[in-house]
Amino acid sequence: MTSASNTLHTLAERVVRKADYVPCAEAFVDTRLPGREGKMNYCIIGPGVAENEKQVVNIVEPHGFNVGGVSLPTGKINSLHSHVTAEVFIIFRGEWRFFWGYDGKDGEAILKPGDVISIPTGTFRAFESVGSDDNFMLSFLGEDDPGFVTWANDVIEGAAEFGFYLRHDSSLVDVNNGDVMPQASDLMQPLSEAELLKYNRTSLAEMQARVYNVDQFQGHAEAFRDVALDGGKKLYHSLIGEGCHELGEIQARVLNPHSFSLGAIVAETGNGFLRHKYDVKQVLVVGEGQWKITMGADGEEESFEVGPEDTISVPAGMYRRIENIGDERGVLYVASSGDLHAGISWAPEVGDSLGVSV
Ligand SMILES: [Fe+2]
Repeated sequence: MTSASNTLHTLAERVVRKADYVPCAEAFVDTRLPGREGKMNYCIIGPGVAENEKQVVNIVEPHGFNVGGVSLPTGKINSLHSHVTAEVFIIFRGEWRFFWGYDGKDGEAILKPGDVISIPTGTFRAFESVGSDDNFMLSFLGEDDPGFVTWANDVIEGAAEFGFYLRHDSSLVDVNNGDVMPQASDLMQPLSEAELLKYNRTSLAEMQARVYNVDQFQGHAEAFRDVALDGGKKLYHSLIGEGCHELGEIQARVLNPHSFSLGAIVAETGNGFLRHKYDVKQVLVVGEGQWKITMGADGEEESFEVGPEDTISVPAGMYRRIENIGDERGVLYVASSGDLHAGISWAPEVGDSLGVSV
């Protein structure tokens, strides 16, 4: 992997705009197969599971999880594969068909913008764009090191026909490009029938329980205490994990440990979060609208205006203020590091207004 920034010296380096995302068209071995070309992979935070050292990673600093993205020409397939950590997709643009099972026939789901899916670890999954070529999904992978991809046999066997192999550390061997052919024992091999049977057979009902169709949920209006104050009104959608909300018995759509939790807030113009902090790292991704994120130590705050698909890494323990500065409703995804519930701490002036100690 190559990195645009190995060490984050400034807050500005924590703001990765959509225009800063760097696609890699050959991040994975399956892109070398006929009918699978053209997948654009992005590594925004962390190296993910990319198999190509040319993949640019915008932010290398560990966050406890990885954030990436993908777009795919309509008609092409992202091949069946499995992961050893959680994998979550948020649909930003386009319409996508997911299908799963080691033969790809255990079920399918069509997702549209705003929908979220968490695919069980150890389940073979694939997807394709079934809408516009103008498509994009954000992807989250669990843990700092999400391991490597296990490809379905058709990928390993098909790649070999074209001279591509994967070592056990997921690095690529390209014999047409002069790479020396390693011993077979050093290479990933097709899975035996017995090995395939160890992978999950996830039913349609089980997968549907892990899909958040954005149209079907209203969000919680009183998830945070600052909703009572000017500028703090918002809805909170609890998508995955214990979350970062404050009030109420709110349970996420998907609750098994991912190494991160994920929520979304929806706010009208002038609203968002009043000044607060968390003791874990958070990643904010703009779903819709224009937002202003103000963060920094007292007296050293910096403001960043961000729009759809921009990503912001907020350090643990740093106060931040979040405001929808657009003319329309805004959506902001909030990912919190770790499996524990992330507890919010209000800034002193907010605590005073709320009548709570901070
Ligand atoms: Fe994947």
